Amino acid sequence: MSPRWDRLLVDATLATFAGTAPYGRIDHGAMALHQGRIAWIGPQEALSAPPETLAMHVDNLGGALVTPGLIDCHTHLVFGGNRAHEFDLRLNGASYEEIARAGGGIVSTVKATREASEDELFAQSLPRARALLADGVTTLEIKSGYGLELETERRMLRVARRLGETLGASVRTSFLGLHALPPEYRDDRDAYVAQVCDAMLPALAAEGLVDAVDAFCETIGFTPAETRRLFERATQLGLPVKLHAEQLSDLDGAALVASFHGLSADHLEHLGEHGIRAMAETGTVAVLLPGAYYALRETKLPPIVSLREHGVPMAVATDCNPGTSPLLSLRLAAGMACTLFRLTPEEALRGVTVHAARALGLADRGTLEVGQRADLAVWNLREPAELCYWIGGSHALRQLFLGGEPHPLMA
Ligand code: NIG
Ligand code: FE
Repeated sequence: MSPRWDRLLVDATLATFAGTAPYGRIDHGAMALHQGRIAWIGPQEALSAPPETLAMHVDNLGGALVTPGLIDCHTHLVFGGNRAHEFDLRLNGASYEEIARAGGGIVSTVKATREASEDELFAQSLPRARALLADGVTTLEIKSGYGLELETERRMLRVARRLGETLGASVRTSFLGLHALPPEYRDDRDAYVAQVCDAMLPALAAEGLVDAVDAFCETIGFTPAETRRLFERATQLGLPVKLHAEQLSDLDGAALVASFHGLSADHLEHLGEHGIRAMAETGTVAVLLPGAYYALRETKLPPIVSLREHGVPMAVATDCNPGTSPLLSLRLAAGMACTLFRLTPEEALRGVTVHAARALGLADRGTLEVGQRADLAVWNLREPAELCYWIGGSHALRQLFLGGEPHPLMA
């Protein structure tokens, strides 16, 4: 009789993020992978027969930790150039807002991105995506928003899709046309918002390039009324919405995105009670971005205690972008969420697995459970908290599985 399963992992420390145990932990665990999914999981002693008789391949992990593949649910990973000179300016006292108002910031990356061909953008972005994978990521979100005109927004989203295909990872795209006002529309905001809502979004959605719709609702971004107009159009097109909200001020963006049953509200340093209640009611995920908090030397903390008390699911992401968070390690983002935001390591790790999946509207990943995609990270570590504890280094990840197949990491 041929074995039942493609692969069986044995002697694993499983952090399943399912069930009620801390981390959903199963010591001396076994997990079967079959046809890209998890087919069986439990204590090894509960296997019905010797492992070799049950699967084509048996991997003895010698106690190594296994988690779901990590999920980075907020990145701006595709962009041209970099903004290291702004880092210097900020260290010398200029604020993010001042730099943006003086024509730097997002608009300076827009210039570099518009000037880059599709192949150049791909070549610049690929090492960044590889770095995330090398640190345990198997699913990542990538936003547009550095084109601010149809051709370049399309180019960014196509590069995002191509990165997923090239690396064999799952990429979810978000259209972020309302990221900044492009210079050519400086005197006509309405015309730009109309262009985004009525021309760019429908065209890119029709090309299958948009999985969700995002905006930057902020004093230096777009107003709640402009954001609402975009969300109404997204809803008409059947696309889910999410929002950069309450990063620098409280414009009540979190309540706005919640009123559209949005996937997530992201940043949230200036979030108030009203927004928290609205998010709790609709189950909108709070995406915490400690990399931006750190790089901007922000001092106002997101209201973690209240989010926790109201049962709002909290995700953690890198926000990888050239301006406010040039961060290429989701593990470090999780560590920063503990050190800077006072999440527990378990909360931070749920934030890069199960809650991150929810922030992307994905129900088939983020936990180790029967029927879930077999996207896994195997670590040279024993304790789940070590994932947040080590700072830097490339020693942590042993192996990634994508859809049940071992991934040739750096190929
Ligand atoms: O998430 N806040 C707006 N968007 C990005 C920053 C993008 C940039 O500065 O290039 C963020 O922090
Ligand atoms: Fe962002």
